[in-house]
Amino acid sequence: MSHQPEPVVIGHRGAGALRPEHTLPSYETAIALGADYIEPDLVSTKDHVLVARHENEISGTTDVASHPEFADRRTTKTIDGVAITGWFTEDFTLAELRTLRAVERIPDLRPGNAAFDGLAPIPTFDEVVELARRHGVGVYPETKHPTYFSSIGLPLEEPLLEVLGRHDPVFIQSFEAANLRELRRRTPLPLIQLIGGSGAAYDRMVTPEGLEEIASYADGIGVATSRVVPAGPGGRLLTPTTLVRDAHRAGLVVHVWTVRDENAHLPADFRLGDPASPAYARATGNVTGWLTMLYDLGVDGVFADNPGMARAVLAGRARRPSPRRPSARRRSAPS
Ligand code: G3P
Ligand code: CA
Repeated sequence: MSHQPEPVVIGHRGAGALRPEHTLPSYETAIALGADYIEPDLVSTKDHVLVARHENEISGTTDVASHPEFADRRTTKTIDGVAITGWFTEDFTLAELRTLRAVERIPDLRPGNAAFDGLAPIPTFDEVVELARRHGVGVYPETKHPTYFSSIGLPLEEPLLEVLGRHDPVFIQSFEAANLRELRRRTPLPLIQLIGGSGAAYDRMVTPEGLEEIASYADGIGVATSRVVPAGPGGRLLTPTTLVRDAHRAGLVVHVWTVRDENAHLPADFRLGDPASPAYARATGNVTGWLTMLYDLGVDGVFADNPGMARAVLAGRARRPSPRRPSARRRSAPS
């Protein structure tokens, strides 16, 4: 990829602040608001078709529970060491899944989104890529539970690369290093190692040594914002870490997740209004201040539930000089 003069705006689950996540209307909204990339999280159906869902258990984001014909599919599984009860995409064919409709995950915080409940089906990854292609924007897929899906004979890698084809630009992201190493053997596309806000394995990844290791198989990191600006007691921000600088020194781009508009999702420093108000949690805070801080710290991209806000803040800074930053590059094809 060519040098990126300014941070990229990634429509997180489309535009999750404005439409039920991972629906075509959500992705279309993200594109209309200026996202450079749209982000589908990917899981597999029973017939090995990739679909966009944040997790393979779908009771929180679809109306599956109100379909009596699927009542006997409700079950308990252990996914990556966690026991989960509900309905799972790998137990449905694509045709069956398509009879369901998406619903808002957090209607208390996003009551406006709930107005769209029941309208949109679960999109296939193919549909998401086709939408991006039509509009000339990038795709930023995340493999969800890739080891688990391999264990049940539905590996994500082959259909992922097949559907992506020659789409450009692309980032592929995963929390699983083994999955990224496997993808590195198969594709020159830019890969992003996701790093959670806590956990010993992730703690090691953000050390200079860990970043050097990541650079051997990936092109960047996608980190919880707390890895760049930690929060202390009461959610107040502390001194920023050196992670952005350290990652850049290792030749890695740094994308952060997730910037959301609501007070409930913002650091305490950027919440607005009266905490005693019943609407306080869902009220929009000073998200422009939070985005400005992250951009000032030199991040190369932001996953935003409202990509329009991330774009607007960038537009407001357009005339300010920005530091040069490394860009993820397309590698030579593996031999
Ligand atoms: O992929 C970046 C960010 O989306 C990771 O968190 O849980 O929203 O997939 P999640
Ligand atoms: Ca994701």
